[in-house]
Amino acid sequence: MTKLIGFNKIKTAIFISGTGSNCRNLIKFSKLKNSPISVHLILSNNPKAKGLVFANKFKIKKKIFKFKKQRKDEKEILKYLEKNQISLICLAGFMKILSKNFIKEFKGKILNVHPSLLPKYKGLNTHMRAINSKEKFSGCTIHFVNSNLDSGKIIVQKKVKINKNDTPKVLAKRILKQEHILYPKAIIKLFANL
Ligand code: GRF
Repeated sequence: MTKLIGFNKIKTAIFISGTGSNCRNLIKFSKLKNSPISVHLILSNNPKAKGLVFANKFKIKKKIFKFKKQRKDEKEILKYLEKNQISLICLAGFMKILSKNFIKEFKGKILNVHPSLLPKYKGLNTHMRAINSKEKFSGCTIHFVNSNLDSGKIIVQKKVKINKNDTPKVLAKRILKQEHILYPKAIIKLFANL
Protein backbone atom coordinates (compact mmCIF):
# COMPACT_ATOMS: atom_id res chain seq x y z
CA MET A 1 0.00 0.00 0.00
CA THR A 2 2.84 2.45 0.66
CA LYS A 3 3.48 2.39 -3.08
CA LEU A 4 0.48 4.65 -3.52
CA ILE A 5 1.94 7.64 -1.74
CA GLY A 6 2.56 10.39 -4.23
CA PHE A 7 0.25 8.86 -6.83
CA ASN A 8 -2.88 10.58 -8.01
CA LYS A 9 -5.94 8.94 -6.60
CA ILE A 10 -8.55 7.57 -8.98
CA LYS A 11 -11.32 10.13 -9.44
CA THR A 12 -14.49 8.31 -8.51
CA ALA A 13 -18.22 8.93 -8.79
CA ILE A 14 -20.70 7.09 -6.58
CA PHE A 15 -24.18 6.44 -7.94
CA ILE A 16 -26.94 6.03 -5.35
CA SER A 17 -30.73 5.88 -5.11
CA GLY A 18 -31.41 5.60 -1.39
CA THR A 19 -29.87 5.57 2.07
CA GLY A 20 -26.29 5.72 0.91
CA SER A 21 -24.60 3.83 3.74
CA ASN A 22 -22.19 2.25 1.24
CA CYS A 23 -21.63 5.70 -0.25
CA ARG A 24 -20.76 7.16 3.15
CA ASN A 25 -18.47 4.25 3.84
CA LEU A 26 -16.65 4.65 0.52
CA ILE A 27 -16.18 8.36 1.12
CA LYS A 28 -14.67 7.62 4.52
CA PHE A 29 -12.45 4.98 2.97
CA SER A 30 -11.37 7.39 0.23
CA LYS A 31 -10.06 9.78 2.86
CA LEU A 32 -7.54 7.29 4.19
CA LYS A 33 -4.06 8.24 3.10
CA ASN A 34 -3.42 5.02 1.26
CA SER A 35 -6.84 4.66 -0.36
CA PRO A 36 -6.54 4.39 -4.16
CA ILE A 37 -9.68 6.48 -4.78
CA SER A 38 -10.95 9.97 -4.15
CA VAL A 39 -14.68 10.64 -4.39
CA HIS A 40 -15.53 13.66 -6.56
CA LEU A 41 -19.18 13.18 -7.25
CA ILE A 42 -22.36 11.64 -5.89
CA LEU A 43 -24.98 11.06 -8.54
CA SER A 44 -28.55 10.03 -7.90
CA ASN A 45 -31.64 9.30 -9.97
CA ASN A 46 -33.69 10.11 -6.88
CA PRO A 47 -33.74 13.71 -5.66
CA LYS A 48 -34.98 12.44 -2.29
CA ALA A 49 -32.20 9.90 -1.77
CA LYS A 50 -31.12 10.18 1.86
CA GLY A 51 -27.54 9.53 0.86
CA LEU A 52 -27.34 12.91 -0.87
CA VAL A 53 -26.73 14.46 2.57
CA PHE A 54 -23.21 13.05 2.38
CA ALA A 55 -22.46 15.38 -0.51
CA ASN A 56 -23.02 18.38 1.75
CA LYS A 57 -21.41 16.75 4.74
CA PHE A 58 -18.19 15.86 2.94
CA LYS A 59 -18.27 18.78 0.46
CA ILE A 60 -18.59 16.62 -2.60
CA LYS A 61 -20.41 17.63 -5.79
CA LYS A 62 -23.85 16.12 -6.25
CA LYS A 63 -25.89 15.74 -9.38
CA ILE A 64 -29.43 14.50 -9.98
CA PHE A 65 -30.50 12.84 -13.21
CA LYS A 66 -34.01 11.48 -12.89
CA PHE A 67 -33.62 9.02 -15.77
CA LYS A 68 -37.06 9.92 -17.13
CA LYS A 69 -35.45 10.00 -20.55
CA GLN A 70 -32.70 7.52 -19.92
CA ARG A 71 -30.89 7.88 -23.27
CA LYS A 72 -30.70 11.63 -22.96
CA ASP A 73 -29.73 11.56 -19.31
CA GLU A 74 -27.03 8.96 -19.87
CA LYS A 75 -25.54 11.07 -22.66
CA GLU A 76 -25.42 14.05 -20.34
CA ILE A 77 -24.00 11.98 -17.50
CA LEU A 78 -21.19 10.73 -19.74
CA LYS A 79 -20.38 14.30 -20.73
CA TYR A 80 -20.47 15.40 -17.10
CA LEU A 81 -18.22 12.53 -16.00
CA GLU A 82 -15.75 13.39 -18.72
CA LYS A 83 -15.78 17.05 -17.79
CA ASN A 84 -15.03 16.09 -14.19
CA GLN A 85 -12.37 13.57 -15.27
CA ILE A 86 -14.10 10.73 -13.48
CA SER A 87 -12.51 7.39 -14.25
CA LEU A 88 -14.30 5.03 -11.88
CA ILE A 89 -17.99 4.60 -11.04
CA CYS A 90 -19.05 2.79 -7.88
CA LEU A 91 -22.72 1.84 -7.90
CA ALA A 92 -23.96 1.71 -4.32
CA GLY A 93 -27.65 0.93 -4.04
CA PHE A 94 -28.29 2.49 -7.46
CA MET A 95 -31.67 1.22 -8.62
CA LYS A 96 -31.53 2.07 -12.33
CA ILE A 97 -30.22 -0.33 -14.92
CA LEU A 98 -27.59 1.40 -17.02
CA SER A 99 -27.87 0.89 -20.77
CA LYS A 100 -25.49 -1.28 -22.80
CA ASN A 101 -24.22 1.83 -24.50
CA PHE A 102 -23.39 3.59 -21.23
CA ILE A 103 -21.59 0.52 -19.91
CA LYS A 104 -19.64 0.21 -23.16
CA GLU A 105 -18.45 3.80 -22.83
CA PHE A 106 -17.22 3.11 -19.30
CA LYS A 107 -16.13 -0.46 -19.93
CA GLY A 108 -14.34 -2.11 -17.02
CA LYS A 109 -14.69 0.99 -14.87
CA ILE A 110 -18.05 0.39 -13.18
CA LEU A 111 -18.29 -1.59 -9.95
CA ASN A 112 -21.38 -2.68 -8.08
CA VAL A 113 -22.27 -4.10 -4.68
CA HIS A 114 -24.92 -6.78 -4.68
CA PRO A 115 -26.47 -8.31 -1.55
CA SER A 116 -26.19 -12.01 -2.42
CA LEU A 117 -23.58 -14.58 -3.28
CA LEU A 118 -23.74 -14.14 -7.03
CA PRO A 119 -24.47 -15.84 -9.36
CA LYS A 120 -27.26 -16.77 -6.95
CA TYR A 121 -30.14 -14.33 -6.50
CA LYS A 122 -29.54 -11.67 -9.11
CA GLY A 123 -32.01 -8.78 -9.07
CA LEU A 124 -34.26 -7.70 -6.23
CA ASN A 125 -35.48 -9.14 -2.90
CA THR A 126 -32.35 -11.23 -2.51
CA HIS A 127 -32.67 -11.79 1.25
CA MET A 128 -36.27 -12.96 1.08
CA ARG A 129 -35.47 -15.32 -1.78
CA ALA A 130 -32.42 -16.77 0.01
CA ILE A 131 -34.43 -17.35 3.21
CA ASN A 132 -37.39 -18.86 1.34
CA SER A 133 -35.05 -21.22 -0.48
CA LYS A 134 -33.74 -22.40 2.91
CA GLU A 135 -30.18 -21.41 2.10
CA LYS A 136 -27.70 -21.82 4.96
CA PHE A 137 -25.63 -18.90 3.74
CA SER A 138 -26.10 -15.72 1.82
CA GLY A 139 -23.69 -12.80 1.59
CA CYS A 140 -22.55 -10.02 -0.67
CA THR A 141 -20.57 -9.58 -3.85
CA ILE A 142 -18.57 -6.77 -5.42
CA HIS A 143 -18.45 -7.20 -9.18
CA PHE A 144 -17.76 -5.40 -12.42
CA VAL A 145 -20.85 -4.21 -14.22
CA ASN A 146 -21.44 -5.61 -17.68
CA SER A 147 -24.52 -5.40 -19.86
CA ASN A 148 -26.29 -8.33 -18.16
CA LEU A 149 -27.86 -7.62 -14.78
CA ASP A 150 -25.62 -8.60 -11.84
CA SER A 151 -23.55 -10.81 -14.12
CA GLY A 152 -20.17 -9.08 -14.47
CA LYS A 153 -16.90 -10.58 -13.27
CA ILE A 154 -16.82 -11.13 -9.53
CA ILE A 155 -14.06 -9.29 -7.65
CA VAL A 156 -14.71 -10.36 -4.04
CA GLN A 157 -17.44 -12.06 -2.04
CA LYS A 158 -18.25 -12.51 1.63
CA LYS A 159 -20.38 -15.34 2.98
CA VAL A 160 -22.82 -14.57 5.78
CA LYS A 161 -24.63 -17.26 7.76
CA ILE A 162 -28.42 -17.26 7.68
CA ASN A 163 -29.74 -17.91 11.18
CA LYS A 164 -32.87 -19.94 11.85
CA ASN A 165 -35.12 -17.04 12.75
CA ASP A 166 -33.74 -14.46 10.35
CA THR A 167 -36.22 -12.16 8.66
CA PRO A 168 -35.14 -10.48 5.42
CA LYS A 169 -34.69 -7.26 7.39
CA VAL A 170 -32.44 -8.80 10.03
CA LEU A 171 -30.38 -10.60 7.41
CA ALA A 172 -30.11 -7.45 5.27
CA LYS A 173 -28.67 -5.55 8.22
CA ARG A 174 -26.07 -8.23 8.92
CA ILE A 175 -25.07 -8.40 5.26
CA LEU A 176 -24.92 -4.61 4.88
CA LYS A 177 -22.23 -4.51 7.59
CA GLN A 178 -20.18 -6.90 5.50
CA GLU A 179 -20.77 -4.84 2.33
CA HIS A 180 -19.13 -1.93 4.10
CA ILE A 181 -16.00 -4.03 4.68
CA LEU A 182 -16.06 -5.69 1.28
CA TYR A 183 -16.33 -2.67 -1.07
CA PRO A 184 -13.05 -1.09 0.09
CA LYS A 185 -11.42 -4.53 -0.05
CA ALA A 186 -12.41 -4.89 -3.70
CA ILE A 187 -11.02 -1.46 -4.53
CA ILE A 188 -7.75 -2.25 -2.80
CA LYS A 189 -7.57 -5.57 -4.61
CA LEU A 190 -8.07 -3.87 -7.97
CA PHE A 191 -6.03 -0.72 -7.60
CA ALA A 192 -3.58 -0.88 -4.69
CA ASN A 193 -0.69 -1.86 -6.92
CA LEU A 194 -1.07 0.96 -9.42
C1 GRF B 1 -27.25 -2.52 -0.32
O1 GRF B 1 -27.68 -3.67 0.37
C2 GRF B 1 -26.75 -2.88 -1.68
O2 GRF B 1 -26.13 -4.12 -1.73
C3 GRF B 1 -28.02 -2.92 -2.47
O3 GRF B 1 -28.80 -1.86 -1.97
C4 GRF B 1 -28.42 -1.59 -0.62
C5 GRF B 1 -28.03 -0.16 -0.57
O4 GRF B 1 -27.78 0.28 0.73
N1 GRF B 1 -27.76 -2.87 -3.89
P1 GRF B 1 -27.16 1.72 0.98
O5 GRF B 1 -27.98 2.72 0.19
O6 GRF B 1 -25.73 1.70 0.54
O7 GRF B 1 -27.31 1.92 2.46
